[in-house]
Amino acid sequence: MPGRELGRTGLTLPRVGLGTWRRFDLPAGREHLAREIVRLALDHGVRVFDTAPVYGRSEGVLARALGADRQRAFVATKIWADTPAAGRRQFEHQLDLFDGRVDLLQLHHLIGWQVHAPWLERERERGRIGALGLTYWRDHAFGGGTAAELEQAMRTGVFDAVQIPLNPRERDVEERLLPLARELDLGVLVMRPFAEGGLLGRKPDPRRLAEAGCAEPSEALLRWGLSDPRVHVTLPATISPAHLLANIAAGSALELTDRQRTAITELFG
Ligand SMILES: NC(=O)c1ccc[n+]([C@@H]2O[C@H](COP(=O)([O-])OP(=O)(O)OC[C@H]3O[C@@H](n4cnc5c(N)ncnc54)[C@H](OP(=O)(O)O)[C@@H]3O)[C@@H](O)[C@H]2O)c1
Repeated sequence: MPGRELGRTGLTLPRVGLGTWRRFDLPAGREHLAREIVRLALDHGVRVFDTAPVYGRSEGVLARALGADRQRAFVATKIWADTPAAGRRQFEHQLDLFDGRVDLLQLHHLIGWQVHAPWLERERERGRIGALGLTYWRDHAFGGGTAAELEQAMRTGVFDAVQIPLNPRERDVEERLLPLARELDLGVLVMRPFAEGGLLGRKPDPRRLAEAGCAEPSEALLRWGLSDPRVHVTLPATISPAHLLANIAAGSALELTDRQRTAITELFG
């Protein structure tokens, strides 16, 4: 799968990663599904795995699914805590789960970003964190920050990457956040490429899809996001081997032309 440099981190990462929200929140008896998906993903070149302490059991399930393959993965997880002490407790647990290092540690919904930034920077200097990021879904989501606050945080120079929603129905970030990320050379990871699967419910006219150069809605949506030159990695979530392989294939396909992109916007927007 082709890669793209994650902004100023200088790391080249394959363009399709794996989200874990809901899909990896599995009871102990079904964790084998996550092991199978993670093995398949790694064997087909996926490196970025995105999780969070608040995704139910997902963070632990991901860690156990990676097992001895931890070093082949680029683990992106998050902190959601009001105080540095609470944030540190989450981080210490993550160090236990992921062999003493988190590759990308993101502040979930920007919660407490000012109070966490100093200790996170120290941990990055120590090498227990590879890169620092911020995630933003929508203004005040779950008591978190706004897009204006995200811009402010991005400009501090502390953070290396942002994770934002982008699909033909959620395009607000195109106006200011994506241009700013490019100006500051920050990595951009896309959450919700299928709008939680909501964009996959209705089958568009296959002829119109084919005119846009795509065979499947999921392929169209992933290629649509990845054809934005400011986007580095997309994070579709799946627990289905067939869907995972389809998503990887979409990440290996050619970028869409402007005309194809417009057609897909019209089909799904
Ligand atoms: N930081 C934040 O605030 C935040 C918020 C939302 C999401 N995220 C991150 O972004 C990731 C992705 O977002 P999301 O989980 O909301 O949803 P999503 O990736 O937009 O959609 C996931 C849904 O699409 C289905 N799917 C995946 N590939 C498919 C394919 N090729 N064909 C058909 N169906 C397919 C999945 O079901 P199957 O398992 O059946 O494939 C699942 O129901 C999350 O898991 C999380 O890591 C972060």
